[in-house]
Formats: sequence, structure tokens, C-alpha cells
Amino acid sequence: MDPKTLLQLAEQHGTPLVVVDHKVLRENYQQFRTLLPRVQAYYAVKANSDPAIVQTFYDAGASFDVASMAEFLIVHEKIEHLPPEQRQAFIWDRIIYANPIKAIETLQRLDPYKPLVTYDNYEEVIKIARHAPHSGLVLRLLVPNTGSMVELSSKFGAMPGEAVDLISFAHNNKLEVEGLSFHVGSQCTNLKNYSQALQLAVDVFAEARARGFDLKLLDIGGGFPAHYDDTVPSFKKLAKMLNSELDRLFPEPIEILAEPGRFLVASAVTAVAQIIGKSVRGGKLCYYLNDGVYQTYSGQIFDHAQYHLNSFKDGPTQFCAVFGPTCDALDTIGLVEQLPVMDMGELVYSENIGAYSSASSTYFNGFPPAKVVHVNQ
Ligand SMILES: Cc1ncc(COP(=O)(O)O)c(C=O)c1O
Repeated sequence: MDPKTLLQLAEQHGTPLVVVDHKVLRENYQQFRTLLPRVQAYYAVKANSDPAIVQTFYDAGASFDVASMAEFLIVHEKIEHLPPEQRQAFIWDRIIYANPIKAIETLQRLDPYKPLVTYDNYEEVIKIARHAPHSGLVLRLLVPNTGSMVELSSKFGAMPGEAVDLISFAHNNKLEVEGLSFHVGSQCTNLKNYSQALQLAVDVFAEARARGFDLKLLDIGGGFPAHYDDTVPSFKKLAKMLNSELDRLFPEPIEILAEPGRFLVASAVTAVAQIIGKSVRGGKLCYYLNDGVYQTYSGQIFDHAQYHLNSFKDGPTQFCAVFGPTCDALDTIGLVEQLPVMDMGELVYSENIGAYSSASSTYFNGFPPAKVVHVNQ
């Protein structure tokens, strides 16, 4: 987003401000679909659940990965407007409930929708069979998350060696297992994670077939990296490898889906904040902003991300520390930022801040989340 427009929006709406560019959302979605033609994109709503973002992806033809009843309802509200005969046939095409652990109340609320849900353990099968027997199941496999910015494998995923037993157990509990899913870890820049995961999945497909279970669906999860800097491999390169591996290992026409979050939203959002304080500590210049890690910069804590700050003005830069507005020292945006000398009241901005950022904003210390404005909707 060009700096002039950002400044105008900040003047119009005040700061802290989060600007969502829907043109970039649409471009990211199109790029995903064009470069991975066999893969339907189920946008992972958790990355940014702003209903306007969900609407734009919905209009573009996306499906959705939801992780809670609240997320499910954001998406389902859109399906409700379809003619009744289309609704039920449509739900698996449009929504996967991809949280392997679901509370009993959630299962009870989901059951009437005949949902597609993931699982990775025996206890969950018993719960689903009892409280959501009309579900279709997708078994989540444990796969390598090596080098990914956010690893997910310590929390979820069935060992490939027990996968077919878990499929058989679901079958014995009168549940149908539609296929497999995995997640290679978020912001996965190690492409081998994907190729190893696909190999594990095809082995489980073969073993399942040999034991009488025909799997029809493969969900390759999220992890597609946002281009935060030039060390990140291009999406084109990742897509080329994935297409070739998918065609080699899964030549038959099975349903292939993915749950991209970060890749679709990160680059569409820019945050603008104001300098509300300035000091020198231990010889280092420190700036205090009206946005911080308890609000838009929450990804620094929860997402292990580092967002850099840019000034709207040119000039020689110097190293400085930048903090958020709360009284907590954890509220540190960066200790080695490079900015020109800034005055009180001036504005700074951070790009690529659309994923796992506003999504986990809080009201800590009474500072509310930044205002969100949408452009090119
Ligand atoms: C089950 C599941 N699917 C998809 C995603 C989205 O991942 P990403 O934003 O890396 O694409 C996540 C992220 O945590 C997840 O847990």
C-alpha cells in the first residue's frame, strides 16, 4: 500500500490503524488457485477472522477452515443465504472444522450441519460417535514441522503407524473417514516438510486401501509462507514442487484441499501507529507507539513474527528501540529497529501484518485494538 494513501487514511481515521487491502486478498487467492490448480483453498479463518475478509474470500470462491463454533458461524451465515437444497450438499465443499479437539457442546451444536471434522486420537472418535454421529471424519497425521516459524506437531497429529488403526476404530464406531490431513507448521520455508508429509500420506492411503478403507480426500493443511523478506522461497517454487509431487503420488482424481491462512492475508494488511513518547535509555533512542504487542503487534508473541517499522520520511537512520503503549516491558516491538530521527506525533507503519495479528488483539491496560479500515472492497 503506497505511503501517501496510508497517511491520508491515518489522517481521516486516526491511529492506531489497520488497513486491509481487499485487492491484495483477491490477488493472493487467485495466485493460490492458479498455481495449485488441483487444490481447493479452505481459508484458515483463525489467521484473520474479520467478517469483511471472510466475505471477500467467499465471493472469490474460497472454502473455509474453522477452528471454533464462532468461526463456523461466521462462515455458515453466508451459506444460509443459499437455497435450501444447496446448503447440505455444499457444506463439506465450503467448510472443514479442522480443530482435532472439540468440546462436547461444540460437537452437539455441529452435528445438525453434518460437518466435516478432523480428529487424531481414540477419545475424540468416541466423543464424535456419541455427540456428532453425522460427521464426516478426516484423520490428521503427524508430519515433520522442521524449521517452520510456528511448529504445530507437538500438539496435534496421529503417528502414521497408528493411522489405519484409528481409521478402523472410527469405522467400528459407525463413522466414515473421508481422508487425511496434515500441517507442516506455519510459515514453512523448508519445502522438504511438504514432500515428506505427502510421502507419509500416500503410504497411509495404501495401507488403508489394503485393509479395506478407501480414502477419498487429502488435506495438505496450511504453512504456505508469506513473503516477509527475500529469504522466503517463492510460492511459485513451492507450488511447482507440490504439483509435481501430487501428480506423482496421487495421480487418481481424489479431492485435494489446503487450509492456507497466512499466505492469503499477511501481505494485504498494513498497520499505522503514532509516536506518543520518546526517551533515551542507556544511550539508545526509544520510541513509544500507540499500538503494541497486546494489540496489532500480538504476532510478535503468539506467532513468533517480527514486524519492522518504516517511517514516512526519508533521511539517515539510526538504531532505536520501539515499544507499545502498555506498562509491560513485554510490550516491545523491536530493540534494533532502524528509523530516521522521529518527532513526537509522527507516524510509522508496518507491512505484511495481516496474519495472526489483529486476530489476537486484547484490551490489556485499557488500550483497545486498532481501528480497522477496508480499501478496494
Ligand atoms: C489446522 C490448521 N489449519 C490451517 C492453519 C493455517 O496455517 P497457515 O496460516 O500457516 O497457512 C493452521 C494454523 O495454525 C491450523 O492450525
